[in-house]
Amino acid sequence: MFDTDLINRFQQLETPFYYYDMGLLRQTLEACKNASDRYGFHVHYAMKANFNPKVLNAIQSYGFGADCVSGNEVKAAIAHGFDKGKVVFAGVGKSDKEINAALDADIFCFNVESVQELIIINDLANAKNKKANVAIRINPNVDARTHHFITTGLDENKFGINGWQLNDVAETLRKCANLQFVGIHFHIGSQITDLEVYKSLCIRINEMQDWFEDHGFQVKVLNTGGGLGVDYHYPDTNTIADFEGYFKVFRDFLNVKPGQEVHFELGRAMVAQCSALVSRVLYVKNGQKKNFLVLDAGMTELIRPMLYQAYQKIENLSRKPASPQVGKSESEDSGHRTQDSKFKYDVVGPICESTDCFQKDVELPESFRGDLFAIRTAGAYGEVMASGYNLRDKVQSVYSE
Ligand code: LLP
Repeated sequence: MFDTDLINRFQQLETPFYYYDMGLLRQTLEACKNASDRYGFHVHYAMKANFNPKVLNAIQSYGFGADCVSGNEVKAAIAHGFDKGKVVFAGVGKSDKEINAALDADIFCFNVESVQELIIINDLANAKNKKANVAIRINPNVDARTHHFITTGLDENKFGINGWQLNDVAETLRKCANLQFVGIHFHIGSQITDLEVYKSLCIRINEMQDWFEDHGFQVKVLNTGGGLGVDYHYPDTNTIADFEGYFKVFRDFLNVKPGQEVHFELGRAMVAQCSALVSRVLYVKNGQKKNFLVLDAGMTELIRPMLYQAYQKIENLSRKPASPQVGKSESEDSGHRTQDSKFKYDVVGPICESTDCFQKDVELPESFRGDLFAIRTAGAYGEVMASGYNLRDKVQSVYSE
């Protein structure tokens, strides 16, 4: 991702910033588009993963729909040119204001997460003399075998409607004249790397659509959610997620009936690898038990490692073997450059919290004040989860073009 020219360019810039490789983003989107088009599948990009305007513009240009989880995401999707007829709106706590905004925008569909929400959408649609398309988000109780914190499809999770409530759903749908049932929706978790999990999901979806059809509802849309994982350990080797393998599981195991559409909501797999958080070493603190590299980025810029104990690869760009002398003055360098020798550091941020640590005991070349660091695979749930804690500056973005 980083050649000498790029690292030299970074030397001139204020850190920290998110660097976006727009070429890589396009390559990833093309791979996703080709793989989904092969089976006539519809992909809604999960905007929560990254709503940087340039990223949204690129994604929209491929004709993907948008999966939104707030009224503001719905508005942003439409403002960035996503077709309103391809916008879906999920979320366990949609406010009346958000539902009204989505009704006004004439989106494709609400993914509804409770019986009470069905009634509220019906009432609000009635007040506007409109009919709202709804898909029922079902909690399939399928274990995504991913990190506990990003698992959503188990009975113990707050998301979706459980199987035992479906009679109540059917009764409510029959009573609500301002709702149009279009299908069923699922999402079992994120960063799923074991595709077998999706076979189990397909089996549940097949059972559920039979249940609805047996109860007199036509299921036009099967929305399987998102969750396809990426390789955080080897971003340069496995740069593009396994879209082919992923969609093939659904082609092979989902019982798609004539006239039915299969929808997906991918976020991470579409944007994670195209960005890195670039930061500088402010201080090197050599302690008795630990050596710390204090970066000028912290949990305020990228919170995933702290919040989910997530691994993201850390590289010292200034000491890359291929670019030994990148832009450093002799005085900063202090004659210590020993590229081959490895040191262990806790790589931490500047925030006043002990948890503000990107990774402990990272093996790195000996590192110095001013060295440029990259934290890789930061395009998904990176910039969007930044906060203003400690009244920090808003993190900047830099683009390859
Ligand atoms: N659909 C629904 C209903 C979702 O809740 C999500 C993500 C997606 C689709 C997209 O999932 P993806 O393809 O990106 O895995 N902040 C966490 C991830 C939270 C995911 C939330 N829901 C992280 O940084 O790992």
